[in-house]
Amino acid sequence: MLILTSFTLLNKAPTLLRPFSKKEIQTVRRTWRLVEPQNERATEIFYRNLFAAKPELRLLFKRDKSHTITEAIGRLVDGMDNLPDILPYVQKLAVMHVHFGVKKADYKLAGPVFIKTLKDLLGSEFTAGDEIVWNKIYRVLSGVMTSYAYPQRHTIVFSWLMQTVSKVRSA
Ligand code: HEM
Repeated sequence: MLILTSFTLLNKAPTLLRPFSKKEIQTVRRTWRLVEPQNERATEIFYRNLFAAKPELRLLFKRDKSHTITEAIGRLVDGMDNLPDILPYVQKLAVMHVHFGVKKADYKLAGPVFIKTLKDLLGSEFTAGDEIVWNKIYRVLSGVMTSYAYPQRHTIVFSWLMQTVSKVRSA
């Protein structure tokens, strides 16, 4: 079973390592250029939407981190044409979230909240096409984070495989 899983994942490795097309990357970078100058407002809207969806999440947010969070997401946006390069950071981020008290189920809630935030902030500049791409980005990122931070047996193999491929590529 383990061998079969590893073989399947190895076959899928090229798609897993570069899950986003050039066009999707351009779309994300274009949106992000519009968000970055308004990072404080973006954070404010995100918190408002998030706490409206689940008020008890308010307890997890201790400090004003609008700059750290926007900067870090900017780093992810910059690195998304090569997932293995940003993988160690994404994994570190995933573990930090466990310490912040974030549960796996919270990722399902935060995705639509994040999309709604982009819509509220950017209005008609955020198109239906952009929404499809951002949904995909969130699905991939949150998938990598949750599979690392809340692992099951097959995701431990996946994680090991991604790290091995990443090391071989950078050697
Ligand atoms: C793809 C998904 C996510 C990404 C990329 C992301 C990104 C980040 C980043 C970059 C930080 C700043 C970390 C630092 O201190 O350096 C952060 C903090 C935080 N995130 Fe997330 N996050 C994600 C999902 C979530 C979810 C689902 C929740 C739960 C509702 C959450 C709650 C928090 C909390 C509580 C903090 C700490 C804020 C504070 O100390 O005030 N995040 N996140």
